[in-house]
Formats: sequence, structure tokens, C-alpha cells
Amino acid sequence: MSDASNSGLFICFEGIDGSGKTTQARLVVERLCSLGYDAVYTTEPTRWSEPGKKLRESFFAPTRLPIEDEFRLFLEDRILHVKSEVIPLLNAGKIVVTDRYYFSSVAYQGARGLDWQYILHENEKIAIVPNLVIFLDLPVSVALDRIASKRMEGVNTFEKEESLRKVKGIYLLLAERFPRLISKLDATKEISEIQKSVLRLIIQLWKNNSKVDN
Ligand code: TYD
Repeated sequence: MSDASNSGLFICFEGIDGSGKTTQARLVVERLCSLGYDAVYTTEPTRWSEPGKKLRESFFAPTRLPIEDEFRLFLEDRILHVKSEVIPLLNAGKIVVTDRYYFSSVAYQGARGLDWQYILHENEKIAIVPNLVIFLDLPVSVALDRIASKRMEGVNTFEKEESLRKVKGIYLLLAERFPRLISKLDATKEISEIQKSVLRLIIQLWKNNSKVDN
């Protein structure tokens, strides 16, 4: 696995469902662009690749895909995302802000029962390491309240709670294992307060990277 290109900056947002990562990722891209930085938002699963489309369809299917198939589709989608979006954008010097990346596979497919160290290992073969992972940390109970108020009527909350607890547990293990790479932010705070911390982290990193380049 190689590191993100040193011309651009590669940032990932991670967290359990309801943690607000899509909101924060989109907001920070807008904010960075308004400040004159060249930032681009991407997401996984992608909305354009065949494996990405299959995965998104599967989210609405009555039964889940078998775990091995699901894992493989995320991996195939990621290979395409990295090759067609992330690398060209980084080479063009942009700040790439990705909404979910391989840490999601480790946490979610790990929670479904695949060995998380194996998932990590398989992803490390195909993915480039980002410059920073922003993990929005939220208690599962708060996430469930947010999900219930917004969407997902009819979801089995007990199953959802069980699985989110496992997902969160793996995210915390990853944060312990990669303390320099993964910045954990308290996602119970106000959107604007979190956004300030996110922006500060990214701009700081951009400045440090520029120093290294010069
Ligand atoms: P999410 O970001 O919640 O999608 P959206 O905000 O567009 O509705 O991601 C969709 C789901 O995909 C989420 O429940 C986590 C799951 N997922 C995995 O299980 N493994 C992965 O590798 C990725 C990228 C996502």
C-alpha cells in the first residue's frame, strides 16, 4: 500500500450511521472552496461503478448479500474509486474529501463477522493510505435517535443497535491502532463547532504538507 500523493491531500470521513459525516464532509468541501482551496467531495460506495451500484441496490433489498460477496463488491468498488477519482484528483493537487473509505469495510464487514484484521490486510493491498481520517464519534443511542427521527422507519432497532455497537467497537480499535492517522472528534457537538475543528485540522495539514514540498 502506498501513501497518498504529496501534491494533494487525501482526507476521509468515517463514523457510524447517523454520526453526521456526510454533512461535515460536504460542508468542509464548500468551506475550503470558498476560502480558495481546491477541494472535491467523493463517496463510497461510488454512485457510478457497477459494484457501487450493486451495493446501493442491495441496501434496499429484503435480504443482505452474503458477507463474502458484499466484502468483494466493496473492494472492487474501492479499486475503481481510487484509480478513477482519488489518484487523478490528488495528482492534480486537490484536496480529496472522501465520505467513507476502507475503515468502513473493516468496521461494517467486520461487524458482520469477517475477521477485521483480514479485511484491513486485503484493503491495504489495494488502497492508498489517506493523509488523515476524521472519525466522528457518537454514542450508539444518540445515533439511533437521529436515525429514527430522520428515516429508516420499520428498521429492527434491536438488530440495528447490536450491529452499530459492533461497528463502533471496531472503529475504536482502529483509532487505537492508528492514533496518528485517525483523529477522533466528538460528534455530539453542534454542527458548526465540529466543522471548525474539521477545517482547522485540514488547513493545518495542508500547511504542513506545503512546507514539506517546498
Ligand atoms: P452511508 O455513508 O451511510 O451512505 P449514504 O449516506 O449515502 O446513505 O453508507 C452506506 C452504507 O454502506 C453504510 O451503512 C455503511 C456501508 N459500508 C460498508 O458496509 N462497507 C464499506 O466499505 C463502505 C464504504 C460502506
